Amino acid sequence: MAVTVRAVRAEDYPQWRPLWDGYTHFYDCVLDESVTASTWERALDPHSSMFCRVAESEGRVIGFAMCVLHEGTWSTAPLCYLEDLFVDATQRGAGTGQALIDALMEEGKREGWSKLYWVTRQNNPARKLYDRFGEADDYVRYRISL
Ligand SMILES: CC(C)(COP(=O)(O)OP(=O)(O)OC[C@H]1O[C@@H](n2cnc3c(N)ncnc32)[C@H](O)[C@@H]1OP(=O)(O)O)[C@@H](O)C(=O)NCCC(=O)NCCS
Repeated sequence: MAVTVRAVRAEDYPQWRPLWDGYTHFYDCVLDESVTASTWERALDPHSSMFCRVAESEGRVIGFAMCVLHEGTWSTAPLCYLEDLFVDATQRGAGTGQALIDALMEEGKREGWSKLYWVTRQNNPARKLYDRFGEADDYVRYRISL
C-alpha cells in the first residue's frame, strides 16, 4: 500500500470530516460545529499559522496531521506543533502515521523550522510509533481554561 503525504485541499472535506469526527470521538470530545468549521477553514487558509497534511492511499484520504507553526523565544526559526494526528482505524499499523511524521520532518528541514514537537498521553499506545523518533522529555503540562 503506497502512501503519499500532501497538503490538504478543499475537495478533501468529505473524506477529512469523518476522520476528524473519529479523532474527536477518540478523545471523547464534542466540538461545536462552528469550531470544526473554523479549523477546516484555517487549515486551508495560506495566511493561517494552522495547516493540514493528509495521507492518501489509492486515491483515498486515510489520515491527517493538523499542525500549527509558531514563533519561539529560543529560536529565530519557527517551531511546528503537531496538534492532531489520526489514521483511519481500518488502515492502521501499515506505516501511515510514520509517513505523516516523516513528511513533516522533511518539510521542516526544507523550510527551516527549528523543531517539530507533539504531546500525548503517558499511556497512549501510539508511543510505540513516537519512540521511533526519539525519547520523550520529562516536561509536564499545566493548562488553565479561560
Ligand atoms: C497514532 C496513529 C496515528 C498511528 O497511525 P498508524 O498508521 O497506525 O501508525 P504506523 O503504522 O506508522 O505505526 C508504526 C508502528 O507503531 C505501532 N502503533 C502506532 N500507533 C499505535 C497504536 N495506537 N496502538 C498500537 N500500536 C501502534 C504500529 O502498530 C506499528 O508497529 P509495527 O511496525 O511494529 O507493526 C493511529 O494509531 C491513530 O490514529 N490512533 C488514534 C488517535 C491517536 O492516538 N492519535 C495520536 C494522538 S497524540
